[in-house]
Amino acid sequence: MPEQLTFPKDFLWGTAGAAHQVEGNNINSDSWVLEHVPGSPFVEPSGDACDHYHRYPDDIALIASLGFNTYRFSIEWARIEPEQGEFSIAALEHYRRMLAACHEHGLTPIVTYHHFTSPRWFAAKGGWEVMANAELFARYCEKATAHLGDLIAAACTLNEPNVGILIQQMGFMPSDAKLLNAPFRAAAAKAVGSDTFAAFPHCQQQPARDTFLKAHRLAFDAIKASRGDFPVGMTLAMSDHQAVPGGEAVRDKARHEIDDVFLDVARADDFIGVQTYTRTRYGAEGILPSEAGVELTQMRYEFYPEALEATIRYAASYTGLPVIVTENGIGTEDDTRRIEYVRRALRGVHQCLQDGIEVRGYCYWSIFDNFEWAQGYRPKFGLIAVDRTMQIRTPKPSAKWLGSIAQENALAE
Ligand code: BGC
Repeated sequence: MPEQLTFPKDFLWGTAGAAHQVEGNNINSDSWVLEHVPGSPFVEPSGDACDHYHRYPDDIALIASLGFNTYRFSIEWARIEPEQGEFSIAALEHYRRMLAACHEHGLTPIVTYHHFTSPRWFAAKGGWEVMANAELFARYCEKATAHLGDLIAAACTLNEPNVGILIQQMGFMPSDAKLLNAPFRAAAAKAVGSDTFAAFPHCQQQPARDTFLKAHRLAFDAIKASRGDFPVGMTLAMSDHQAVPGGEAVRDKARHEIDDVFLDVARADDFIGVQTYTRTRYGAEGILPSEAGVELTQMRYEFYPEALEATIRYAASYTGLPVIVTENGIGTEDDTRRIEYVRRALRGVHQCLQDGIEVRGYCYWSIFDNFEWAQGYRPKFGLIAVDRTMQIRTPKPSAKWLGSIAQENALAE
């Protein structure tokens, strides 16, 4: 008989997505601008994406039919506040209908207020590089909560405010470097009729980090003061930072900048959202390349699902907070490797639970093969394949496999 690893009653079994990556035609966002500036390093624009903006009723029904009980998605600031101070009731009503559809299908909705994209007017005001702009984010959160709060089950303010620092420390991909270079930023600014353009996460991290932290706290308070009687937290991009002998001090310093500074602020929250994909190894001289012969994912980082257990332990012990795994997944064309990745990651989650760590849920990234930012549609993170010409959805074996684990609330080993 296979061993059954059972999970706590009410464990959140979900899958995640983000507005810009799936909705399509998010033309008022800063990312849309970056995708269309001449010389853009984005390999292709987001275009129609998965047309989730229109197809959400069927998509939500499909997620539920696969067996999940949770859907994490983001609402789009660029749609809700298309010009500074002008709030669109129609856009808010759209997200209200999405939330209602989740409830109708028995899905617990976890809402992210900001998943990388901002309105273009915000980027044109200096975005996250300007501390005073934190207030603008909090005002949007307050308005969105007033309209949607009664239907939200849990909320993440900012998705991965530390991702820019993580990317910088790990070494830029050519596309990241280009998005930050002065001539490209000047071209983006010109496209929006401004002399500045700062998009998340492609901006100077030093001023931005403090703005993120302030924006998160202001947003947390604004949500709570509005209709936010649900748990609120932030999500972090957490790599498993490992030191080889002699690399401990370098590792600790890097981890302090990438994780601890954010975890310190998160301590005042209701939960911490852990988002983990791989590990980073450090020697005395800095980050080490992957060892020869290790399996790499489509994102060129190591296939290392054990990272999730380590980051859950780190986040929980550092903050003392309950954890929700708000993202964990793999970009691969080979769905059998996805199943293997998730199986090993879930063993780690179970081990944490056995040790008394409060892990409330696991959301696989991502629901669909979707727009992987500058890399376009090539990386395949989805549980569901999408033919984007006809917008046909085809669940992969991994979707059915993980959905049945959700249904059983147990992993058979
Ligand atoms: C982000 C997602 C992204 C995923 C895979 C996370 O850092 O939140 O937007 O698609 O990683 O790279």
